[in-house]
Amino acid sequence: MRWIAAENPSDQGCMAAEIICRCLQKKPDALIAFPTGSTPLPMYASLVACYQSGQVDFSRMRGFNLDEYAGLPPEHPQSYAFFLWENFYRHVNVQQQNIFVLDALADPVQAAADYEEKLKQAGYPDLAILGIGINGHIGFNEPASVQEAFCHPVQLAPETLAANARFFSPGEKTPQSAVTMGMGSILKSRKIILLASGKGKAKVMARLKQMTQIDPMFPASFLFLHRDVTVIADRDAWPQGEMMTAES
Ligand code: F6R
Repeated sequence: MRWIAAENPSDQGCMAAEIICRCLQKKPDALIAFPTGSTPLPMYASLVACYQSGQVDFSRMRGFNLDEYAGLPPEHPQSYAFFLWENFYRHVNVQQQNIFVLDALADPVQAAADYEEKLKQAGYPDLAILGIGINGHIGFNEPASVQEAFCHPVQLAPETLAANARFFSPGEKTPQSAVTMGMGSILKSRKIILLASGKGKAKVMARLKQMTQIDPMFPASFLFLHRDVTVIADRDAWPQGEMMTAES
């Protein structure tokens, strides 16, 4: 696992966008797995800017969302299909047929199986971009004593529900479950970038930096099993007491 320090979220967004652009320059039809949430917003803004200045072409890129709330229609402002469309896809020349999202309205077991099959047919991601939850979740792989390897439905952990409540209006019923790529699906990616920014992530990043074991109660630790993971953490998320280097 390589650690790279970014000065702030915007710097981090530029670094991640640059990796994506390089990936697409090498392989224009690359399959990329994308996260939602606050962390990747500067990355999407930077990708849109790269597109507008002619640095990158998304016309052959295949994009897969990492996860989705169960039961939210794709036009719901908090659905992850909507998020990716609104913050990224609609601003660039990605082709509709190359956008893959989980079917939030289908039976979750079936939706998960169908998505895993689509990933398999497509050859799994060339690049997966990930965020991390304060409990170490990756995608919506929540801490559990046994982890489902592939795409699966999941009950959201109380800390995830609390963290994501900020996106919903007060009193609005928030989804309690989701469908997510499994750690096994994610680990099939050729390259993985993990993004963390903000003080709220310093504790979880310190835990990840110090860990030497794979612990299903801390799903991010499965990333130790992959040989090409780059962590990009900004100054606020950087583990306290660890030297902040351009690369470590
Ligand atoms: C979302 C996802 C989650 C988030 C994580 C961090 O698609 O996969 O794992 O990356 O919950 O969310 P933020 O960035 O909002 O702190």
